[in-house]
Amino acid sequence: MVSSHNELIVSLDIGTSKVRVIIGEINNGTINIIGVGQAHSEGIKKGAIVDIDQTVHAIREAVDHAERMVGVTIHEVFVGITGNHIELHETQGVVAVSSEDREIREEDIQRVIQAAKVVAIPPDREIIEVVPKEYIVDGQGSIKDPRGMIGVRLEMEGTIVSGSKTVVHNIVRCVERTNLRVAGIFLQPLAASSIALTKDDKNMGVVLVDIGAGSTTVGVFEQGQLVATSVIGIGGDHITNDIALGLRTHTDAAEKIKIKNGCALIDEASEEVKFKVTRIGSEVEKQFTQVDLANIIEPRAAEIFQLVDDTVYKMGFSEEIAGGVVLTGGTVSMPGMLELAKEELDCPVRIAIPDYIGVRDPAYTTGVGLIQYALVRMERKPVRTSTGSFKTAPKPAVNKPQKDSGNILDKVKNWFSEFI
Ligand SMILES: Nc1ncnc2c1ncn2[C@@H]1O[C@H](COP(=O)(O)OP(=O)(O)OP(=O)(O)O)[C@@H](O)[C@H]1O
Ligand SMILES: [Mg+2]
Repeated sequence: MVSSHNELIVSLDIGTSKVRVIIGEINNGTINIIGVGQAHSEGIKKGAIVDIDQTVHAIREAVDHAERMVGVTIHEVFVGITGNHIELHETQGVVAVSSEDREIREEDIQRVIQAAKVVAIPPDREIIEVVPKEYIVDGQGSIKDPRGMIGVRLEMEGTIVSGSKTVVHNIVRCVERTNLRVAGIFLQPLAASSIALTKDDKNMGVVLVDIGAGSTTVGVFEQGQLVATSVIGIGGDHITNDIALGLRTHTDAAEKIKIKNGCALIDEASEEVKFKVTRIGSEVEKQFTQVDLANIIEPRAAEIFQLVDDTVYKMGFSEEIAGGVVLTGGTVSMPGMLELAKEELDCPVRIAIPDYIGVRDPAYTTGVGLIQYALVRMERKPVRTSTGSFKTAPKPAVNKPQKDSGNILDKVKNWFSEFI
C-alpha cells in the first residue's frame, strides 16, 4: 500500500512494442517500484510518433493499469525521448555571482545554466536539456557542485541536448491528450544510464546499447558524460520477422516462439528443445528444434551487433572503449545474446537489468532509469518559473495517493517546464 507521506514519480516509456508506465515511490531518496502498467504499442517508429490516436490510446491503457494496481491517480509523467533527430552540442555559460557575500547559491547555478542555453539553434529544433559537465569558479575548474563556494565569476561547461521540435511536440501532444502533464522530457540513454551504468563506467568510457523491438539506441559515455548517441532502425521485431519467414508462420506465432524457445547462439541451442508450428497455408503442424530457431536468430542478432560496432566507429570512436559495452532493452533477455555480443564485439560486455522488485527485466531499464534520473535532477533543482517555449496542460501537477497532500513534484512542477 502507498504511504501517504511518500512522494511518487511516474515515468512513461513510449516504445515500439510497448508503452510502459512505472510508478516509483520515493522514500528518503530511495526508489520503490510500486506500480507498472503496460499496453501494446503501434504508433511509434524509431522513437517518433507516427500515429497519434494509437499512441494516445496505448498511453491511457498503460496509465489505467498502473493506477489500478496502486490505487492512485496519475497527473504527470516524465517521458523518455530518443531518435536520430537528437543532437548533442558542447556549451558554456558565464555569470557574475549575484550575492553580496559572494557565496554561490542555487540561483547562480540556474543563471549559468540559463546562460549556457543562449545559443543559436535552428527554429525547427528544441532544447531538451542542458547537462552540466563541470563548473569553474574564478578560473578553478573540475567542480561538480559549486554551491556554498565563494567566488565572483561562475562558469559552466556542459552539453546541450536538442531534438526535432515536431517530434518533441508530438510526444507532448499525445501525453496531454490523455489528460496528463509532461513533468519533464529526458533523453532515453541518459535516463537509462542512471541505473545501467556506474560512475566508473562513465568515467572510463562505455557504450550503452538498448536493443528494443523496433530500434537499437547506442549511447557513448566518456569522462563521465554522454558524448554521442545514435539510433539504428533494427531490433527484436526484425528477429521475429525472420522467424516468421523462416518457419513460414504468422508474426504473432513467431513472437511467441521467440520468447519461449529463442536462443541467439547456435552453439548454445539444444536439439532437445522442440516445438510445433502451424505453417501458413497448411493445417499440418511441423516440428522444429531450438537449433533450427537459433540458425535463424543468430545471423540477425550478429548483424545488430555489427551495426552497433559500425555506428560507434562512425560516431568517431575508433579506439577501443575501455569500459566495453553494456546491453539492455527487451531483446537482450534472449539466451545467448550476451555470449554472441562478446564474440561479435570482441570486448567486455555485460547486461544491465533494473535491480528493483517487480521490474527485473532489461525492457524496464529506460522506464526505471527515467524515475532515477528525474529524482537526481529534482534534488539538484529548486522551483523555477516556466520559461518553456510551449505550454503544458494547466492542471495540478501532482501524482498522489487519493488522500495525499504533499509531493516532491510540487516543488519542481514549474522548473521542469524549462526543459521541454
Ligand atoms: N525473453 C525474450 N526473448 C527474446 N526476445 C524478447 C524477450 N523478451 C522481450 N523480447 C523482445 O524485446 C523486444 C521489446 O523490447 P523493449 O520493450 O525494450 O522494446 P520497446 O521499448 O517497445 O521498443 P523500442 O525501444 O525499439 O522502441 C521485442 O522485440 C520482444 O520480442
Ligand atoms: Mg525502448
